[in-house]
Amino acid sequence: MDHQCWERPEDMDTPRNVYKVSTQNPGSDVAAETAAALAAASIVFKDSDPSYSKQLLQTAMKVFDFADRYRGSYSDSLNSVVCPFYCSYSGYQDELLWGASWIHRASQNRSYLAYIQSNGHTLGADDDDYSFSWDDKRAGTKVLLSKDFLEKNTQEFQLYKAHSDNYICSLIPGTSSFQAQYTPGGLLYKASASNLQYVTSSAFLLLTYAKYLSSNGGVASCGTSTFPAEKLTSLAKKQVDYILGNNPAKMSYMVGFGQKYPLHVHHRGSSLPSVHAHPDHIACNNGFQYLNSGSPNPNVLVGAIVGGPDNKDNFADDRNNYQQSEPATYINAPFVGAVAFFSGKTTTN
Ligand SMILES: *[C@@H]1O[C@H](CO)[C@@H](O)[C@H](O)[C@H]1NC(C)=O
Repeated sequence: MDHQCWERPEDMDTPRNVYKVSTQNPGSDVAAETAAALAAASIVFKDSDPSYSKQLLQTAMKVFDFADRYRGSYSDSLNSVVCPFYCSYSGYQDELLWGASWIHRASQNRSYLAYIQSNGHTLGADDDDYSFSWDDKRAGTKVLLSKDFLEKNTQEFQLYKAHSDNYICSLIPGTSSFQAQYTPGGLLYKASASNLQYVTSSAFLLLTYAKYLSSNGGVASCGTSTFPAEKLTSLAKKQVDYILGNNPAKMSYMVGFGQKYPLHVHHRGSSLPSVHAHPDHIACNNGFQYLNSGSPNPNVLVGAIVGGPDNKDNFADDRNNYQQSEPATYINAPFVGAVAFFSGKTTTN
């Protein structure tokens, strides 16, 4: 309902319904993604807070069990509220394998190895898929499982190393399996709307895989050629640098960073006057005058990365062009991983 308004968070007055998945209305996608997040977090806290870490892992296992036992997509049960924007287009199978892979990583419990082995083929292990996103976890799962193969030569996961290579090779111009598209200025281009989500997620996977390869003396195999970790790192760095302003338009796509950045970001709180500047309530429909105004946003949304330029490196700094000017947490989140990688390299070298 709030999507029909252009309102400040402080003024929101549309229904704020909360929904849940249940045994009768299952949501294996949302539940298994939750299990993956809990398992990943348990790794983070393993040394600093072992009991919390254990609790996270045990909860991950419980949630995963629910996801697997009651199979179904949350967008079947909750179609009218999550679609068309957040339908599970890729289905729930990718999240089941992703959840099991994170729990396996966190626990090294052989039940999950057995699960991955017996269910992998029906949950997307054999697909070559070239997008990693909030919806589709397949490429990320392959990279994660290939870590086990690289570290411990877990033969069951050799398949995932091969598919990770296919994914990585698809991004490297000149290889036999190259199939990505780049703009003349060198930006990975996948889609006309919110393209930078795919750029940041690809950069994140390139760097993650580079780290796994270099820690274990591995290389990416693309047909008859092989590529060392440094090749992947330099490819990712180009994408990160492009986003931060090294591009034909000399525009940083991160708001508030650099000399020139988007001023008409498609974001309600950023484009409406603050409650300090305008204490009176601005109702649902009264906000649209700010959406449609040509003025720059009064509140600078520092750090947000927008959808980004088109396939010719052109960017319209226009608030109504949400395909290019809308920021999203799923654009920023993988970017944090990418800049953390480079930041860590600078301080340790
Ligand atoms: C391994 O996972 C299974 C399935 O969740 C569980 O029943 C079992 O207790 C776990 N084993 C250990 C040692 O944690």
